Amino acid sequence: MDAVAEQKYDLGVVRWFTVMAAVYLLVGAFVGVYIASELAWPVLNFDIPYITFGRLRPLHTNAVIFAFGGCVLMASAFYSVQRTCGVKLWSNKLAWFTFWGWNLIIVSAVITLPLGLTQGKEYAELEWPIDIAIAVVWLSYTINFIMTIAIRKSSHIYVSNWFFLGMMIMITYLHVVNSLAIPVGMFKSYSIFSGVQDAMIQWWWGHNAVGFYLTAGFLGIMYYFVPKQAGRPVYSYRLSVIHFWALMFGYVWLGAHHLQYTALPDWTGSLGAAISLAMIIPSWGGAVNGMMTLSGAWDKLRTDYVLRFLIMSLAFYAMSTFEGPVMSIKTVNALSHYTDWTVGHVHSGALGWVAMVGIGAIYHMMTRVFHVQMWSTSLINAHFWTATIGTVIYIVAMWVSGIMQGLMWRAYDEYGTLAYTFAESVESMHPYYAMRAIGGMVFLSGVALMVINIIMTVIQSSAQGSVQQARTATAAASA
Ligand code: HEM
Ligand code: HEM
Repeated sequence: MDAVAEQKYDLGVVRWFTVMAAVYLLVGAFVGVYIASELAWPVLNFDIPYITFGRLRPLHTNAVIFAFGGCVLMASAFYSVQRTCGVKLWSNKLAWFTFWGWNLIIVSAVITLPLGLTQGKEYAELEWPIDIAIAVVWLSYTINFIMTIAIRKSSHIYVSNWFFLGMMIMITYLHVVNSLAIPVGMFKSYSIFSGVQDAMIQWWWGHNAVGFYLTAGFLGIMYYFVPKQAGRPVYSYRLSVIHFWALMFGYVWLGAHHLQYTALPDWTGSLGAAISLAMIIPSWGGAVNGMMTLSGAWDKLRTDYVLRFLIMSLAFYAMSTFEGPVMSIKTVNALSHYTDWTVGHVHSGALGWVAMVGIGAIYHMMTRVFHVQMWSTSLINAHFWTATIGTVIYIVAMWVSGIMQGLMWRAYDEYGTLAYTFAESVESMHPYYAMRAIGGMVFLSGVALMVINIIMTVIQSSAQGSVQQARTATAAASA
């Protein structure tokens, strides 16, 4: 089977994307822990501009979203499209171009962000030459994926491919429009949009980076890896198609819920909130569909640690897609906006959903592309518990801190004077910031276990010559 897989599919590029995804999660989570610690113990800024919170924060978000998230999306899309279409990639060379191009972009981010070179747009900080590179490399990924589907041997296009395609097409469009800028130097440019239009375009991108990249793309991962790992078909194929179209048409209208009570016309925020609420239905459609895929096989969760990651991720997905719509309601947003509640919501989605489903996919692919078992299954179990406990500590700390912040800022006495100064609210945050940093450390320790496990698995695979044996068997069979 290994030799057959090696012959039938292009696995080399998947191997590298998978390993790099794990490495970037380690780096991104480490920077996350560092900036969380800076907020709790500001002395850690050391008065060195390159490592201050303001410079490292975008490095963290870029590392986890684009380096880890990007590599895991590229590995899993290239892996699953070949298996669901029964063909090799349309172009293996183009896939390697995507790999090197994406990694070069990550290196440029690591250099430019600590230097303070930024467009100042959240999740779109990188300067214009890097933006152009992102568009080119992303298109190389998209074209290869579409062409692989075009040359498929199966008549049907499996649902995970629809989700990946939706992400690829929308992200191309969103990235290009939001990044339109006039360069005034090699590392400085100004957005062509200004004022309220700039804000609206930015959050049209910002929320759709969540909706299409962190949601649709990762649902593509879920739809391939949950049924595969569980060894069962998707619970309802019809539901998967319906919630796919509902997500595609719904998400693009949500951006204004990031801009409640701003200079934007009031109705845009109301529209954003109304559609956000409606999005509970398709989001839960996906979560229920994934979980119910296990019906009749729940006992597998006792022994299959990789499946635990995948199912736990769906629980967090359901939770964050309930919380998000609630936060978009204007009266709730009046309390939550600008507070740590938002950061808690982000990480219940980011750690609980995105990271966990990504980690599940990484473990699944590792054994299939290196043709060996994971070095240690008990390390996977330890990773599962550290990831879950770390995430829960993080988000509980942020809920308490966020709601407290919101309430302190709006409290006033009988004379209409604010009851607390801003500095008092900052002081009250300290225990929760320390708690978040500890939660982050617990999560990070799990990621370190995963990287050790991966390194040992790769060593084991090369010692046994598993990849080489599979290739030789392939060559012999085709001779
Ligand atoms: C060890 C794990 C992690 C820790 C300790 C951590 C910590 C942090 C901290 C301290 C911030 C800044 C919050 C602020 O500005 O007040 C932040 C922001 C952010 N992080 Fe993480 N993070 C971790 C993992 C992740 C992962 C895996 C993802 C994505 C997959 C992620 C996505 C984000 C995003 C999107 C933001 C911006 C949030 C916003 O603007 O509201 N983080 N993180
Ligand atoms: C139906 C689903 C969802 C809805 C309606 C929703 C809604 C919201 C709302 C209302 C905010 C706060 C806006 C503000 O006050 O500034 C927010 C922030 C955010 N959400 Fe969600 N959310 C959803 C799911 C998710 C998921 C699954 C993730 C995955 C990671 C996620 C990631 C984020 C991020 C990164 C932000 C922070 C943006 C920023 O200010 O930098 N959301 N979301």
